[in-house]
Amino acid sequence: MRIGVLTAGGDAPGLNAAIRGIGHEALRDGHAFIGINNGWAGLAAEYAGRPLSAEDINYIVGQGGTILGTARYDLDNPAGGRQRVLEAIGEHFDAVIAIGGDGTQRISNWLADRGAPIVGVPKTLDNDLMGTDYCIGFDTAVSIVAESIDRLITTAASHHRVMVVETMGRSNGWVAAMGGLAGGADLIIVPEFPVTMDEVRAHVKHRRASHYGFSIIVVAEGVDMATLGGHEAEALSTEGVRGVRLATRGVGNFVANAIDAEGGVEVRTTVLGHLQRGGSPTAYDRIWATRVGVAAYRAVVDGHYGTIPVVRGNEVVLAPLGDVALGQRPLPRDLYELCSTFS
Ligand code: F6P
Repeated sequence: MRIGVLTAGGDAPGLNAAIRGIGHEALRDGHAFIGINNGWAGLAAEYAGRPLSAEDINYIVGQGGTILGTARYDLDNPAGGRQRVLEAIGEHFDAVIAIGGDGTQRISNWLADRGAPIVGVPKTLDNDLMGTDYCIGFDTAVSIVAESIDRLITTAASHHRVMVVETMGRSNGWVAAMGGLAGGADLIIVPEFPVTMDEVRAHVKHRRASHYGFSIIVVAEGVDMATLGGHEAEALSTEGVRGVRLATRGVGNFVANAIDAEGGVEVRTTVLGHLQRGGSPTAYDRIWATRVGVAAYRAVVDGHYGTIPVVRGNEVVLAPLGDVALGQRPLPRDLYELCSTFS
């Protein structure tokens, strides 16, 4: 078989572990293993497939980024991109494995509905893909947030300051909540459970009056400023539509400025940004990326197209692509409430 693999959307630590897992199995079984460069662009624009050997994928398990390159490539603007991908798959491959988040898997599902021999692999640092407990890159991001807070807490405590930490998380607060929980943040603001700036200021006052005297506030970049309220919130929120780089919208600075405006406490902001996506994956990400990658390869050889291996508890199971492409998975209330008990 000619088996192609691509990585689409934002990069995430663990992508190379998945590529390596798929490739070693495919090459061992005598198949041609073809890396498609730069996601869907490598099929919809100029064809960019290249055969990969065992040497190409040796020792990449701990390497960040993706050896294939990736892109946020819009197949619908201009129209016709999806059709070109469908034709390129028919021309060059017996099967394609698409590693990506919700946008990627919606395309995979569209292609599968039209007969393409395609299998997905769940990846998004935001961890909000429907139907799976795990997405490639999430564990590394959480570890980076936790380590960053470890470092910020010592300086916050020394200066009796409020430190606002802005994390990734476009529509959902998984990275903010789990990173904040692991790092010991005392307030975590996520898109799923809105708070107002009055509540944030009351929290800061309470922390100032407590024996701590400092505060670590984590806010996910996708939090709607309009729900926080206050100066300029409406105008800033209208920029928060999909496609806008949320980190440049500046919800972290917005929260910090609103606290600062009250006076009485020094406030600083740290925007973690792409540090959360860079560098080597954690062991957890390497292991699970390998497991879902290898499961995707097995789905291909068993002819289970239109599926995606997902993690449920401690197991990898095959789910229909339609199940994960349907929507996003919000942070559940019980986990949010657990985070809220450490204020
Ligand atoms: O979708 C994953 C993600 O990391 C989001 O959390 C973030 O908003 C976005 O990607 C950033 O994308 P880019 O690298 O294109 O700026």
